[in-house]
Amino acid sequence: MGVGRGLRAGLLLWGTAAGFALCTGCGTQPGAGITNADRSGRFAEAVQLYQNGCNSCHGNDLEGGVGPSLAHVGSKLSEAEIARRIAEGGGPMPAYGPGGQAILSPSQINLLAAWLATKK
Ligand code: HEC
Repeated sequence: MGVGRGLRAGLLLWGTAAGFALCTGCGTQPGAGITNADRSGRFAEAVQLYQNGCNSCHGNDLEGGVGPSLAHVGSKLSEAEIARRIAEGGGPMPAYGPGGQAILSPSQINLLAAWLATKK
């Protein structure tokens, strides 16, 4: 019994480690996903805002879902264009700005846009 449990725990750990290894791989590609530097650096608050709502449609790691992937959105849109998309929404995406549902303040929108613009 003890052995069985140990084995299961071992497999679980191995799975977690493999998951990390995969993510480390993603991290070497510029702009792919949310990096540890994003989480702890000057964009830490942006990451938190993202994880408070955007992730449900754009994925926990910017990979997309209901909404498009944002992993390389900085190569497609400028910072100002990203801020406008967040403020005005589009399709199923809510308008986060003062003219819409005002879920985010203009400075929060700008912070999110500055962060996403680094995702090239
Ligand atoms: C209910 C789902 C949903 C939520 C929540 C959501 N989005 Fe979106 N988002 C979308 C969809 C769908 C599109 C594409 C809309 C279109 O093509 O008109 C989109 C488009 C975008 C775009 C433009 C992407 C491109 O490639 O043109 C950006 C930037 C963006 N969203 C950022 C965000 C951010 C930041 C948040 C959180 C503050 C957020 N979204 C929350 C669904 C969502």
